[in-house]
Amino acid sequence: MEFAKKILCIGAGYVGGPTMAVIAAKCPQYKVTVVDINKARINAWNSDALPIYEPGLFEVVKQARGRNLFFSTDIDAAIDEADIIFVSVNTPTKSFGEGAGKAADLQYWELTARNIVKVSRVDKIIIEKSTLPVRTAEAMGRILNANEKGIHFEVLSNPEFLAEGTAIEDLNDPDRVLIGSQLTPEGVKARSQVVEIYANWVPKEKIVTSNVWSAELSKLVANAFLAQRISSINSISALCEKTEADVTEVSRTIGMDSRIGKRFLMSSVGFGGSCFKKDILNLVYICQSYGLTEVADYWESVVRMNEYQKRRFVQTMLKAMFNTVAGKRIALLGFAFKADTGDTRESPAIEIAKQLLEEQARVVISDPKALDNAKIDLAPYVDSDRIEFVEDPYVAAKGAHAIAVMTEWNAYKTLDYKKIFSSMERPAFVFDGRNILNHKELFEIGFNVFPLGQPTLKHF
Ligand code: UDX
Ligand code: UDX
Repeated sequence: MEFAKKILCIGAGYVGGPTMAVIAAKCPQYKVTVVDINKARINAWNSDALPIYEPGLFEVVKQARGRNLFFSTDIDAAIDEADIIFVSVNTPTKSFGEGAGKAADLQYWELTARNIVKVSRVDKIIIEKSTLPVRTAEAMGRILNANEKGIHFEVLSNPEFLAEGTAIEDLNDPDRVLIGSQLTPEGVKARSQVVEIYANWVPKEKIVTSNVWSAELSKLVANAFLAQRISSINSISALCEKTEADVTEVSRTIGMDSRIGKRFLMSSVGFGGSCFKKDILNLVYICQSYGLTEVADYWESVVRMNEYQKRRFVQTMLKAMFNTVAGKRIALLGFAFKADTGDTRESPAIEIAKQLLEEQARVVISDPKALDNAKIDLAPYVDSDRIEFVEDPYVAAKGAHAIAVMTEWNAYKTLDYKKIFSSMERPAFVFDGRNILNHKELFEIGFNVFPLGQPTLKHF
């Protein structure tokens, strides 16, 4: 069969994989290929055990795989035949040199761009899917177009707003799709080709076009605003714990103001995920590099508040447990950075587990989907006899002095807490880092309960 377009995505990660699977499922007339330098990852995409856990993803992949969706490691052949190339390689925070700890490490993006130039024989549209510092598309355009083959590459920005755990829903029914381009005739023409792809299933009024820098900046700002709401409510949780106020009541009340809105006001042990911290620090770095010190400080405080919230959680545990957790078994319920994903990147649980291990606690990590990643995150401690990884929360809690909820998995709401209580040491503590449990019921069972931003319920 002749395909109407050949679309390629470089980078088969959390973003590239699901996005391309949905495009392929919605548009059988296009050939969609996803490549990656990681062979094991590609093999997994071609198997029944996909490399990432995402509700509904397997069904979508099954529908299109082998028909018009292909996963491959033959990057060069795929570049050669593609009309449109999405780039979704990772852009971690730089760990070295200028901008270390803040700026984005663009080496993978640049290597990918150079490879595209090397292999291509005709003009192509290149689309940034990775979140990048503003003006990256411009730099990439320069690298791509500094070729002596007379080939033109039009670089567009099409940032992805999907959230893990709801990626398929978000892709099927996005709030908006954003496509940025140069405002030249070639740029606008390329943009209309990308609009055409999404218009197969997204209503036209939700497809927003803009200049390329607005598109790049919008992605960073969207994540910064979302994270800022969490840091804001988390800052209030600290104040609530000192007063008689209850942060869940405050959230509910302010969320009913339609100007504020009710989402992203859940106080937590801290936000995680691959994007929030990285994107904010990126924004901070950009502001600093333009001499906007006040603006940089303002956004950096969102990250500082998040670090404080994690530290504060461990301090609460220590203080409650008579100022020592040394030798005490503590079960962490959940390790993923949020429910419905096995992803642990920047998960607050990592920091909390480390701090508890530093305090010489015996830490048991429990999670339905994230234990493999947890073992990687805690690799330096894995051989220690003070750490265990157990999927079953009942086994994890057995003999523990405390359980601490790190991830809001639904399953944790309905565990048999009487059974758990009877298997634990006394006094038994619950620290609810997500405010998802029924605190009054737990208190009545006999637990000493420490919610976030709410009065503690203690038997002593
Ligand atoms: C990535 C970026 O981190 C994020 O900023 C952006 O918004 C979307 O793309 P994600 O898909 O979650 O997010 O990253 P990851 O799961 O790490 O996937 C990136 C993939 O690119 C990896 O599988 C990696 O092997 C691959 N890759 C990396 C290449 O194929 N080529 C490279 O040169 C580098
Ligand atoms: C985020 C953005 O939502 C998405 O648009 C972007 O494309 C990528 O980054 P993601 O990181 O997958 O998505 O998850 P998100 O649902 O935004 O949650 C991020 C973190 O905030 C999680 O750790 C979550 O538990 C936490 N969170 C969220 C809270 O602590 N409280 C809330 O009210 C909401």
